[in-house]
Amino acid sequence: MLWLKAAFLTGLVEALVITKGSSLIPLEGCLKALPRGQALGKVANITITSGGLSRYYLISIPPTYRAEVPTPAILSYHGGNRNPEDQLELDQLTNPKFNTDTFVIYPQGFNETWQGVPGVKINDVQFTTDILNHVQSQYCIDPSRIYATGKSDGGGFCNVLACDPVMSHRIAAFAPVSGAYYIDTLPCEPDTVPIPCQPGRNDIPLLEFHGGNDTTISYDGGERKNECLPSIPHFIQQWAVRDGLGLHNVTTKVASNTISYKFGTGVHFGMVEHVYDATIGHDWPSTEPNPDNLAVGHHVASFNATPMIMEFFKQHPLNFWDLVSEV
Ligand SMILES: *[C@@H]1O[C@H](CO)[C@@H](O)[C@H](O)[C@H]1NC(C)=O
Ligand SMILES: *[C@@H]1O[C@H](CO)[C@@H](O)[C@H](O)[C@H]1NC(C)=O
Ligand SMILES: *[C@@H]1O[C@H](CO)[C@@H](O)[C@H](O)[C@H]1NC(C)=O
Ligand SMILES: *[C@@H]1O[C@H](CO)[C@@H](O)[C@H](O)[C@H]1NC(C)=O
Repeated sequence: MLWLKAAFLTGLVEALVITKGSSLIPLEGCLKALPRGQALGKVANITITSGGLSRYYLISIPPTYRAEVPTPAILSYHGGNRNPEDQLELDQLTNPKFNTDTFVIYPQGFNETWQGVPGVKINDVQFTTDILNHVQSQYCIDPSRIYATGKSDGGGFCNVLACDPVMSHRIAAFAPVSGAYYIDTLPCEPDTVPIPCQPGRNDIPLLEFHGGNDTTISYDGGERKNECLPSIPHFIQQWAVRDGLGLHNVTTKVASNTISYKFGTGVHFGMVEHVYDATIGHDWPSTEPNPDNLAVGHHVASFNATPMIMEFFKQHPLNFWDLVSEV
């Protein structure tokens, strides 16, 4: 990343791409004026064609954006039966209190849901690729700092991306919230079910949030929509194992009802982390009222997920070799 910036500022990156074999690191959006009608600190609504379908995404342009500075971007996927507008309100990632320097992209789920959910036949990995290609052609995006978060079905789709051999090289880190990680296996043994996953690297940073009173996507997992949901501890432990971190974790109390479990040691400490508020439901954790925790039977959390996500992403850019080995 530093190398990229230095090369960029000294004018060495004339073609605005770096090549290694057949792979390109796109910087072609740099130095371009904002598209017509768009402005700093505002949200634009973009329609693209993906897989023959017309789909849209919202993109929030950070107030501090400058076309000569490679800038990070977060993809934020809404929950089932929700839309990009709902997710923008829920995640607060565009709130200047939490973020003034990072693009946030809100893709629209076809039929208000995502690839990976039982019965859904759509290629959202392709949609995500199409969005990133479009965004990286329009704005100066730092290719080592593209991240993904999402809620519920959208959290499940973050895991689809993390497990994808190509997207796991394009997206630096993942932060699913109350994710639905469906596995097409029955009968369902939530604590031991094998979790199919083919990531393109073995150092994928993942931060998972889940409430102990989640009555939609149970913390303990189980059968749902004729497929199997893993228990959340099993899901997170499998990520720790895949990343070679082992099962040992460091447990920290982060707020009155909230515990964090961090896996890994040395420079990898916390590469996989799980944050658990025992008392909240199927919610985006926030100490402020939000559309999730205002629902009947729900209540605010004892911590805020959003600043933790921002901090986790900041700490986990793609390293140069992960970037250039992008297929
Ligand atoms: C964005 O565009 C889509 C498709 O035209 C529309 O359904 C949606 O309501 C728009 N959202 C906003 C915030 O303008
Ligand atoms: C979207 O929903 C419609 C109506 O339920 C259904 O016929 C169609 O197959 C769905 N499309 C996808 C891609 O799942
Ligand atoms: C973390 O370690 C503690 C102590 O060994 C264990 O009880 C707990 O289940 C572990 N948490 C996870 C998410 O694996
Ligand atoms: C758990 O969630 C259910 C359903 O949302 C709610 O009715 C119940 O009051 C919650 N329990 C606690 C201890 O918050």
